[in-house]
Amino acid sequence: MVKKMCCIGAGYVGGPTMAVMALKCPDIEVVVVDVSGPRIDAWNGDHLPIFEPGLDEVVKARRGKNLFFAADVERHVADADIVFVSVNTPTKTRGLGAGKAADLAYWESAARMIAGASRSGNKVVVEKSTVPVRTAEAVEKILVHNAHGVEFQVLSNPEFMAEGTAVADLLRPDRVLIGGRDAAAVQTLKDVYLRWVPVERIITTNLWSAELSKLAANAFLAQRVSSVNAISALCEATGADVTEVARVVGEDPRIGGRFLDAGVGFGGSCLQKDTLSLVYACECGGLPEAAGY
Ligand SMILES: NC(=O)c1ccc[n+]([C@@H]2O[C@H](COP(=O)([O-])OP(=O)(O)OC[C@H]3O[C@@H](n4cnc5c(N)ncnc54)[C@H](O)[C@@H]3O)[C@@H](O)[C@H]2O)c1
Repeated sequence: MVKKMCCIGAGYVGGPTMAVMALKCPDIEVVVVDVSGPRIDAWNGDHLPIFEPGLDEVVKARRGKNLFFAADVERHVADADIVFVSVNTPTKTRGLGAGKAADLAYWESAARMIAGASRSGNKVVVEKSTVPVRTAEAVEKILVHNAHGVEFQVLSNPEFMAEGTAVADLLRPDRVLIGGRDAAAVQTLKDVYLRWVPVERIITTNLWSAELSKLAANAFLAQRVSSVNAISALCEATGADVTEVARVVGEDPRIGGRFLDAGVGFGGSCLQKDTLSLVYACECGGLPEAAGY
């Protein structure tokens, strides 16, 4: 029985995700923690640190009841049955893989902190951040080596919400993905989502498929925008109108019309960061042709 959930990282993903969970699970205490005091103060104030349609209403409906924002990271992690980790995973700027690989320093420090703060029982640790495939293996090693009599189960539950439609996406997700090897832990998290997500929209996979699916989905989206941008250049050279061409192409149900707007490149930091991370994984895996593609 889950009594308390904690999310490390009160950012763009952690804040809205946990606010919606608190709304849908009024009997579960939900605490979002962050090392940044000003960020926590903003979540507790009148002006939330991010704007998303509908977010104010959700936060104000549950804050102080079963939704809390706190800087007291270790205490809340220690008490929680489920710990979500939603810290930032930017592209590395130096060292091995600079410019391509994801920087897992924040994640590793969060994992060490979870192991150090947890003292008894079982704990489910959920990867919410977008991470390179097989990160869970490294996370498990950190947790096991630093544990004090606690058994940890690691799950991958990447977030597919998009900025601008975060609350709507979280309330009615097109899919929820849970990867894990411990069936009981997977079921525990699935039961949380089942309170508002239809069962057919909850996909369970192995850990590595879940980690990789998120990167693959963003790479497909990036590729789609790159394709329409290439056609746009050809339109300019030939007198065709890219809006008209995109509409005709998108009417084919195998292609679909969404996400076919030409622009200056692909927007949103995640598409570029996650595609680079996938390229790096291909290179490290001895797959230069896949990386080049
Ligand atoms: N922003 C999006 O639309 C989006 C969508 C899907 C997935 N993601 C992924 O989700 C993850 C989080 O993204 P975000 O946009 O929420 O990032 P963010 O930068 O908005 O928030 C991350 C927060 O984590 C905190 N933090 C870092 N290390 C910490 C630690 N050890 N203990 C406590 N707090 C710590 C930071 O202070 C920061 O407030 C990334 O992996 C990102 O790729 C983002």
